[in-house]
Amino acid sequence: MAATSALPGLFSIPQYEERSRGLITIPAWEYYDQGCADDLTVRWNREALARIRIESRVMVDVEKIDTSITLLGRTLPHPILLAPAAAHMLIHPEGEVATARGAGAAGATMVLSTNSNCSVESVAAAATQPLWFQLYVSRDRAMAQDLIARVESAGYKALCVTVDQPVIYARDRSSRHADQLRLLPLPNVKNPAPGGLTQTSAGRSRSLTWKDIEWFRSLTKLPVILKGILHPDDADQAVKSGAAGIIVSNHGGRALDGVAATIDALPRVAERVGGRVPVLMDGGIRRGTDVVRAIARGANAVLIGRPYLYGLAVNGSDGVRHIVQILRTELEAAMALTGRTSIAQIDRTVLWPDKS
Ligand code: FNR
Ligand code: LAC
Repeated sequence: MAATSALPGLFSIPQYEERSRGLITIPAWEYYDQGCADDLTVRWNREALARIRIESRVMVDVEKIDTSITLLGRTLPHPILLAPAAAHMLIHPEGEVATARGAGAAGATMVLSTNSNCSVESVAAAATQPLWFQLYVSRDRAMAQDLIARVESAGYKALCVTVDQPVIYARDRSSRHADQLRLLPLPNVKNPAPGGLTQTSAGRSRSLTWKDIEWFRSLTKLPVILKGILHPDDADQAVKSGAAGIIVSNHGGRALDGVAATIDALPRVAERVGGRVPVLMDGGIRRGTDVVRAIARGANAVLIGRPYLYGLAVNGSDGVRHIVQILRTELEAAMALTGRTSIAQIDRTVLWPDKS
């Protein structure tokens, strides 16, 4: 059940990563690959996943494997979403429109970034699967309000508010290349701040608080999901304030260097949320076994960031499709080899007991 690609020699996300590195300009690579500061957290995301051992099981009928889930009232064919990422035109001339086509072909929900190079409307026109929109709230609240109205009328299904980056922390690697990184359109942002992508928080509100969830809810009927939560108290407060979902995320290590790996933050958050709203996780997911680990530790679904960007850089929309297909195929195999035939069957017992 190999996932088919038009390109030879590409069978895994690490292979796509390697291939894309040779195709992406140095400034764009530094922007995409970096976490921030000393890149500790971006590394820990991977290392913490790799440390979690899995229990294989045998002699289970695994003829049929069902990867489908229900999320916010919708049935999805698999639990893999595309995380919001800025500026896809840095690596592909069609930018997020190409990504949306790939997501559609792979049955994946895509979360479009506020800092996309394609407009909310053009991406909606290219999409064949549900879209969510990721919001950075601008200092000018009226601008955010306009954008939410555009998102809603373009048919997006959820508003994903990123809450972990009111300011930018030590972007050493991309700051060196700021000149080459600023020359791209940002059609969803009026008056983008000077300084380009690496300084995009300049026009961003730093005054968001829990009561703003009510403000969002007064502006839109869309479910409001908070992205960038690591602390269980914040998760609890998010639910009490009316969030319809939570994404456990450290922004792929790009928000604050030194915070814990998301797979380590996830169990405490999932436990506190206690099923009141869905809990999603991103950060370091590169293999089907990583999806199993995240679900076993309490995630309802996962998002991938850099992996689909590798696919986009290597082969446009078909590369995006192939990345998701690879991950899904690996997930199916990992489920079969752990004796799980549905996502609901993936619980803690799929992991090696912590103490031995
Ligand atoms: C991001 N991320 C991000 N998040 C967000 O809410 N809005 C954004 O505009 C961006 N932009 C962005 C650009 C690039 C190049 C990367 C790599 C990431 C964070 C993203 O949504 C996600 O949290 C991480 O990418 C997940 O980690 P992995 O899968 O990249 O390890
Ligand atoms: C980043 C911003 C755009 O991580 O969220 O680069």
